[in-house]
Amino acid sequence: DGELSLSRSMINSSDKLTRKGGSSVFHHAVEGWKINSSLVLEIRKSVLQFLDAERDVSVVKSSFKPGDVIHYVLDRRRTLNISRDLHSLLPEVSPMKNRRFKTCAVVGNSGILLDSGCGKEIDSHDFVIRCNLAPVVEFAVDVGTKSDFITMNPSVVQRAFGSFRNESDREKFVHRLSMLNDSVLWIPAFMVKGGEKHVEWVNALILKNKLKVRTAYPSLRLIHAVRGYWLTNKVHIKRPSTGLLMYTLATRFCDEIHLYGYWPFPKDLHGKPVKYHYYDDLKYRYFSNAGPHRMPLEFKTLYVLHSRGALKLTTGKCL
Ligand code: CTP
Repeated sequence: DGELSLSRSMINSSDKLTRKGGSSVFHHAVEGWKINSSLVLEIRKSVLQFLDAERDVSVVKSSFKPGDVIHYVLDRRRTLNISRDLHSLLPEVSPMKNRRFKTCAVVGNSGILLDSGCGKEIDSHDFVIRCNLAPVVEFAVDVGTKSDFITMNPSVVQRAFGSFRNESDREKFVHRLSMLNDSVLWIPAFMVKGGEKHVEWVNALILKNKLKVRTAYPSLRLIHAVRGYWLTNKVHIKRPSTGLLMYTLATRFCDEIHLYGYWPFPKDLHGKPVKYHYYDDLKYRYFSNAGPHRMPLEFKTLYVLHSRGALKLTTGKCL
């Protein structure tokens, strides 16, 4: 029936590779890559059976009122109060309503981007999606600067902005958000307990500084729906990573999806070390099953889609 299905043996072999820490099967088959438009349409249709990214990309104001109590998506026993600030930042309508693009870039955060020279190419796409408020200015040659949609896990406040302990951390954050202008800032605030005060601080700073950024907070069903889609296609991923979520959402809006910065392996094809993130010293955590994600399996899946022309995965230099 032409549906995307990935054979079990392929997935098993990717797990073996993962254990060995190797990545040598992934030949860099970029030359001769061609979009397979009918497959793109097929995937869009089949994702739509699980979620409508236009709607699930964010809850909207009318879904809640201040004071409502909701259960965390991945932590059902814990609850969160919809504060006044949070409510005031919920969009009236989906920030992705009626938005369609010919080409999109989804930029992951792997160190494989360093020295890639991909900045210009990334910025040339009609719509650029980035993850976890990754810095761009210092890395512009390799990663570009355009950011139309950027995700931010609440933990970023701690990891990259010193939990806003100092005025300078807050200033740095406000500066970073002001650079985004009216791009979409996507904050998964309802996933797990732990980040609620970070989200509140972020919301307060956005309001106080009258930042133009368009906040979005993924729907309560998004992650289950995305997992359901991949499970149905025999890809067993318990917690899709931000990068996989973004690709899945992008299938709704983009005719041609180009992925950069996806490389969850400690070495490149020539055996050279690759940093986990292009911009910090975080270490690889995702090689055991203890980690929340199975990025190497996700990568293998995306690689198969690349080979079939459903998306283009760039893991080398841009010319
Ligand atoms: N990524 C990758 N290889 C890496 C690092 C990241 O393929 N070495 C991709 C993953 O799809 C990841 C995305 O880039 O979800 C963004 O990276 P990061 O900010 O590190 O996401 P995490 O915090 O690790 O994962 P998540 O936000 O999904 O918990």
